[in-house]
Amino acid sequence: MPEKSNIVLIGPMGAGKSTVGRHLASHLHLPFVDSDREIERRMGVDIPTIFEYEGEDGFRQREAAVIADLCSREGIVLATGGGVVMRPENRECLKRCGLVVYLRTSVSVQLRRTARDRNRPLLQTENPRARLEELLRIRDPLYREIAHLVVDTDREHLRGTVRTVARRF
Ligand code: S3P
Repeated sequence: MPEKSNIVLIGPMGAGKSTVGRHLASHLHLPFVDSDREIERRMGVDIPTIFEYEGEDGFRQREAAVIADLCSREGIVLATGGGVVMRPENRECLKRCGLVVYLRTSVSVQLRRTARDRNRPLLQTENPRARLEELLRIRDPLYREIAHLVVDTDREHLRGTVRTVARRF
């Protein structure tokens, strides 16, 4: 059981974590926090710049520090980055942070939602579909490992997803 009363949204890039999170927060009258935006705010630069200068490892270290800080709060809706589950310490932290909701999404839908996005360094590749498939193969079991609730965002529309999560909170 979680120790804190937050809602934590996990899932791959393009799952709709920020969109669902913003709507959920306004529905429940709670603050919304996006860990990627919080990392950028603290660093004063965007995520591609952090990847460029510090590599993915540097980004993951900063991400772990921000996740630990945000999970000390109560009553927030937290959207996380798609790779947050790669570190065991993040998985432990998030499980205790609140109701963990995995927004499950197919690769085709992820591709559609991220098509024109230049802010995701891991998708700056010749074959984003192959990259997303590989990431999902590795991460799907990790998302499931810590999720208290799985919502299929390919099937559920935004309002349905918000209602399903709000009912469980
Ligand atoms: C990443 C996902 C991004 C961001 C970074 C790395 C990943 O967040 O944290 O580009 O490893 O999947 P979103 O899932 O919000 O796009």
